[in-house]
Amino acid sequence: MVCLGNICRSPLAEGILQDKLDPVRFSVSSAGTGSWHVGNPPDPRSVDIAQKRGLDISRQRAQQFQGSFFNEYDLIYAMDQSNLSDLKSLAKTPEQLHKLSLLLDAVFPGEGVDVPDPYYGGASGFSEVYDLIDRACIAIAQKIDQKK
Ligand code: 4NP
Repeated sequence: MVCLGNICRSPLAEGILQDKLDPVRFSVSSAGTGSWHVGNPPDPRSVDIAQKRGLDISRQRAQQFQGSFFNEYDLIYAMDQSNLSDLKSLAKTPEQLHKLSLLLDAVFPGEGVDVPDPYYGGASGFSEVYDLIDRACIAIAQKIDQKK
């Protein structure tokens, strides 16, 4: 799960998708295309909305996306088209390119819908972002496996 800062959207996406999958079989992680927040916990507004929905994401720490992740992960989801375009430029092979997709393509295929960046907005933006990511992760979990 990849966004810009790895403190708002992708930590939610990591927590939400991992919660829907068997942790023995599936490992979900998140990263940012940028490095500003490396080592930091998620934004308190993301931690709060996750906690309200029953998920603890407070122990995550931000990391920057590395080229090696293309080999470590089978599926790489970008939160918005700008993140997707940055990731595409890091891909070195057609196989790596093929692992990339826009997260909301899982629910709005081919429409190019972004998870909006809630960083500069208020708490309501985080609730909207949570719901969008949750919808996508339900569809992804159904496709790849299901815990519950
Ligand atoms: P995220 O949100 O990409 O969802 O983690 C942002 C967090 C920080 C910044 C931008 C977006 N920033 O510019 O520091």
